[in-house]
Amino acid sequence: MISNKLVCNQEVKIKDVMMCINENAKGIAFIIDDAQKLVGVMTDGDIRRLLINGYGLNDRIKKHIQRNFIYASFDEEPEKIIEKFHDGIKIIPIVNENMQLVDYAEYNKNVHIALAHPQLDGNEYKYLMDAFLSTWISSTGKYVTQFEENFSKYCGVTYGVATSNGTTALHLALAALGIGKGDEVIVPDLTFAATINAVLYTGATPVIVDIEEDSWCISPDEIIKAITPNTKAIIPVHLYGQPCDMEQICKIAKEHQLYIVEDCAEAHGAEWKNKKVGSFGIISCFSFFGNKVITTGEGGMCVTDDKKLYEKMRILRDHGMSKERKYYHEVIGFNYRMTNLQAAIGVAQVERIDQVLAWRTKLEKQYRECISDSDKITIQRNDLANRKKIAWLVSILVDEDRRDSVLKELKNQGIDVRAFFVPLSEMDIYKDYARECSRSKQISKMGLNLPTTYEMDKKKIKNIISLISSVL
Ligand SMILES: Cc1ncc(COP(=O)(O)O)c(C=O)c1O
Repeated sequence: MISNKLVCNQEVKIKDVMMCINENAKGIAFIIDDAQKLVGVMTDGDIRRLLINGYGLNDRIKKHIQRNFIYASFDEEPEKIIEKFHDGIKIIPIVNENMQLVDYAEYNKNVHIALAHPQLDGNEYKYLMDAFLSTWISSTGKYVTQFEENFSKYCGVTYGVATSNGTTALHLALAALGIGKGDEVIVPDLTFAATINAVLYTGATPVIVDIEEDSWCISPDEIIKAITPNTKAIIPVHLYGQPCDMEQICKIAKEHQLYIVEDCAEAHGAEWKNKKVGSFGIISCFSFFGNKVITTGEGGMCVTDDKKLYEKMRILRDHGMSKERKYYHEVIGFNYRMTNLQAAIGVAQVERIDQVLAWRTKLEKQYRECISDSDKITIQRNDLANRKKIAWLVSILVDEDRRDSVLKELKNQGIDVRAFFVPLSEMDIYKDYARECSRSKQISKMGLNLPTTYEMDKKKIKNIISLISSVL
């Protein structure tokens, strides 16, 4: 039932419509006749113009109603109604077959499609409550061990050390490998800052190298060029779900006796030659931040096949405290522990990871189908030899001169999109470690991450792609 505050009879005076609009605060009144039929609308602008043109508050509105107005029928598809919100129209009356007012549609600026949403409708709540009711809510409790075992097994690796987040996982891995001052660690230019920061926390020197044009991942050729006698490790980042060329990287690492610490924060479940990422590095690190493929809210994990490193990481994670003697600290450690509550969510997330990945792949496929008509949008490659990428966020490239306009327009429409990472070498704080990285620079300027949330469907995807196309 429509509020009386929105409706005026066509026989009323200007002042009545003014009062109506004043009360409804929507800037418009729907005008009906005695048979309750909608005959037009009047906006606050219409009234302002009448007053400017010398009409008085007691003049009748009948002659001045906007009779050529936009309305929708009650049986119209919502998408069709949405299309009518243009040229500043923010409210649309909806009528029945007798032209009687039955409802109205209102443009909501806050309509929001998020970039990513955690999927928490499996056993997450059950296990979380179990952990909560057990009162083991800090970092001791069955779920931490269970999560470590289950996730490392999923990766095809023997041991897991859960951490407070992905950044602490990276730092813990490098610290356990004894990397520090005087050592050099090779990182890609296009990555999230955590990759390089973890190196800097150890006192080692990061060496930034360029990416491959097709995969957007660290370039093996550039790694070779960057190796010096001080190089100790390489951190390949499986960017936006795409696995790095692990064959080349492993070969280089073996030849030069370098550690590989994989940064798998964005690629849970991705594979190189049918082997999961996380199983190539001496230690590999994952993030379980809320927007990741699986999440624990905040959280991370180091996985390794090396028992000694596993034990070392467990000690370092827990203040460097001796396992045999409580409060005796053998090394300067950290508090990088994950809580039992986080791990409880993690256990439930691992149970459904294949299902989540399958769903994400399906969603990305729908994006690919919509984008296939456009010669102005390039979607991330999924056809590179030996690589099975996973769909984390949907990543596309557009004309660099229009990229920011696309970003702005989608944000205006309440759609959350992200520009690609800023290349590390372009940021002042990392300039001492930079090399010429023209490919990374170029990709970064063109890149956008699009939403991959539960509520996305083909219609929404089509809408997003047509919005992007219209700006391009
Ligand atoms: C490539 C990469 N490495 C590391 C991290 C750090 O993970 P966290 O945010 O859990 O600390 C992220 C997180 O977004 C990432 O994308």
